Amino acid sequence: MSPSLRAAILTLGALLWLSGAAWLVLHFAFAQQTAFGPLPNPWEAVLMRMHGMLAVGGVFLLGWIIGAHTLERWGSARNRLSGIALVGSVALLVASGYALYYTTGALHEAASRTHEWLGAGSLLAALAHWVRAR
Ligand code: HEM
Ligand code: HEM
Repeated sequence: MSPSLRAAILTLGALLWLSGAAWLVLHFAFAQQTAFGPLPNPWEAVLMRMHGMLAVGGVFLLGWIIGAHTLERWGSARNRLSGIALVGSVALLVASGYALYYTTGALHEAASRTHEWLGAGSLLAALAHWVRAR
């Protein structure tokens, strides 16, 4: 993997995860308390704008990763399991991220919970893949 592609994947992946994780912390632990009840923290919208922008880059990089990195290494068993876990998580994050925009009601709730848990958990697949590569 070229150093520039590696740096792009690691930087974008880290920022994507951090913006999502910071949103979760603000949303669940730092809601704004008002006389009319709790309201979303004002920084949530800022973080989601950044997250949405990074997600577009993430989808672009995923195409690149599948087209080059993954296909080239598919024949070797090395890192394959953690790689498949990583590709699978990211594919589901793309699908549930899309669903966050275009669904309502119970489907939106399901997309939201799936995206939140999978997003936070995807760090494990990423770390396993990275540690094994070292
Ligand atoms: C390529 C990967 C990803 C894509 C394409 C993606 C896409 C999206 C999109 C489109 C939204 C909706 C934005 C909005 O409402 O303005 C969103 C929300 C969110 N994302 Fe991601 N995301 C990805 C990875 C992650 C990761 C790694 C995390 C880590 C924690 C994460 C956590 C969240 C959270 C917490 C929300 C708000 C969920 C809610 O409204 O219930 N995402 N994401
Ligand atoms: C979204 C999915 C994936 C991402 C983001 C990703 C990212 C990475 C990164 C950043 C490295 C470290 C490269 C280095 O330090 O030089 C790496 C190494 C590696 N990955 Fe992946 N990977 C993904 C999927 C896969 C899949 C599906 C496979 C195998 C089928 C795979 C096989 C490998 C192997 C064998 C290495 C060891 C070093 C090398 O050959 O370059 N990866 N990957």
